[in-house]
Amino acid sequence: MKVIVTGGGGQLSTELSRVAPAEDDVAVLSSGELDITDGDSIRQVLDLEKPHIVINCAAYTAVDRAEDEQDIAYLVNRDGVALLARECARRNIGLIHISTDFIFDGRAGRPYRPDDMPAPLSVYGASKLEGEQELMSLYPNESIIVRTAWLYSAYGRNFVKTMLELFETKDVIKVVEDQVGTPTWAHNLANFLWFLTANFENCKGGILHFTDTGVASWYDFAVAIEEESRKWRSKKEVQVLPVNSEEYPTKARRPFYSVLDKTETWRVWGRTSEHWRVSLRKMLRDYYST
Ligand SMILES: NC(=O)c1ccc[n+]([C@@H]2O[C@H](COP(=O)([O-])OP(=O)(O)OC[C@H]3O[C@@H](n4cnc5c(N)ncnc54)[C@H](OP(=O)(O)O)[C@@H]3O)[C@@H](O)[C@H]2O)c1
Repeated sequence: MKVIVTGGGGQLSTELSRVAPAEDDVAVLSSGELDITDGDSIRQVLDLEKPHIVINCAAYTAVDRAEDEQDIAYLVNRDGVALLARECARRNIGLIHISTDFIFDGRAGRPYRPDDMPAPLSVYGASKLEGEQELMSLYPNESIIVRTAWLYSAYGRNFVKTMLELFETKDVIKVVEDQVGTPTWAHNLANFLWFLTANFENCKGGILHFTDTGVASWYDFAVAIEEESRKWRSKKEVQVLPVNSEEYPTKARRPFYSVLDKTETWRVWGRTSEHWRVSLRKMLRDYYST
């Protein structure tokens, strides 16, 4: 099967490329090779490569900066998705699109189901939601939306790598304790996306949630990163202290509780993902051995 992955160079696309099935013909394309906001660029690539499936990892992901750069956030996360959906629809190409827990406001008090009412708190969340809506109105039956959350990987920019850098230079760091979610190793999501690609006909036409299992605050996650990475770090123990979001203001508002309900995902996959702490251990081994 021929598969195109957009947003090459990002953390998820890098993991997709690392675990791509040997039997598939996979092209992971950077924004320079395929710009999803440029119709000509999309048409040229699709006509040349003739993929069976496109996995759209391309996104404007700078959550705080999006508050000041609304135009570009909507251009990529809404208009780019619509362009891609139209061109895939014209050619009968299956489309797997990645979205986010930030389409919810975090007030549910229980894990969010795929059909729960969205209510984004930020420009990033709103632009991703409008991308989902475009896809669902333009190409609902031959696409799959996969919402995920709190992604990290040995590649690209993410919370784990930021913590590891801070542990090298600080003795004490403060991390927010009142935002709860599920840290998710992009490697595990990549494996699930290859499952969906192979089983596209049975899974298409809806929204699935994918994260690792378990729940943590950013503070819990930072404490775990500190403990699990100790054996590799040259520096001594670092103290991780909890703070409230009010003490660590950010430009974009974030949901306090953004755990996703994965019941349907585990049913179609026939298994569950790993607990986030097990995945963290594996990612750190990966990070320190490369
Ligand atoms: N990271 C998270 O915690 C998280 C959580 C929930 C959902 N998600 C979603 O998961 C997906 C993958 O995220 P990620 O963490 O891998 O993001 P990432 O590392 O920021 O990668 C995004 C990629 O998209 C590319 N891109 C931006 N504009 C583009 C355009 N117009 N055309 C083509 N490519 C473009 C970027 O390329 P350039 O660098 O060249 O611009 C970048 O390589 C996204 O849909 C994101 O919204 C992420």
